[in-house]
Amino acid sequence: MRNKVLKIWPEINWLKDEELRNKVLDCWVYAIEQSKLDIDDLNTIPFSLLLKDCNVTFMNHKRTAVQLSVEIAKRMKENFGDEISIDMDILIAGAILIDVGKLFEYDKVDGKLTTSHIGKLLRHPFSGVALADRFDLPPEVQHIIAYHSKEGDLGKRTVEAIIVHHADFVSFEPFKT
Ligand SMILES: [Fe+2]
Repeated sequence: MRNKVLKIWPEINWLKDEELRNKVLDCWVYAIEQSKLDIDDLNTIPFSLLLKDCNVTFMNHKRTAVQLSVEIAKRMKENFGDEISIDMDILIAGAILIDVGKLFEYDKVDGKLTTSHIGKLLRHPFSGVALADRFDLPPEVQHIIAYHSKEGDLGKRTVEAIIVHHADFVSFEPFKT
């Protein structure tokens, strides 16, 4: 399963810190194993059940958000120099994990996708933090997961969380009806 996850998530190999890389990978492996979805579903299901007529898949959306996060961070580092400090490993780990909790939000009833009982009670930022904590991911990464969505508007985001939040939303809002 680890190799299968690395195939759908090649960006995991962008993580320089080996321990962090393994934790991120273990977290995804565990979530997929617990989920009602199969790993292959992630490359076919739409990224949101809320959007009609959108064929952008879950993995396309998520990988785009990670790639954009890295591009934004690189440009900011290049242009702002010492004025800004961005931890790329924290940023990448957080970006890869923001929607890992979504694996628990889906249910399959008679082959059709619906929102699960857990999904109705705990949106994925919450289940995502619980998952990340299970694998001992650092609080800076848990923060990105917790604050990436609208729930995070209530708090103060770190620079890595600001970047990931916006990268996620620009990959989502154009498809909103
Ligand atoms: Fe999300």
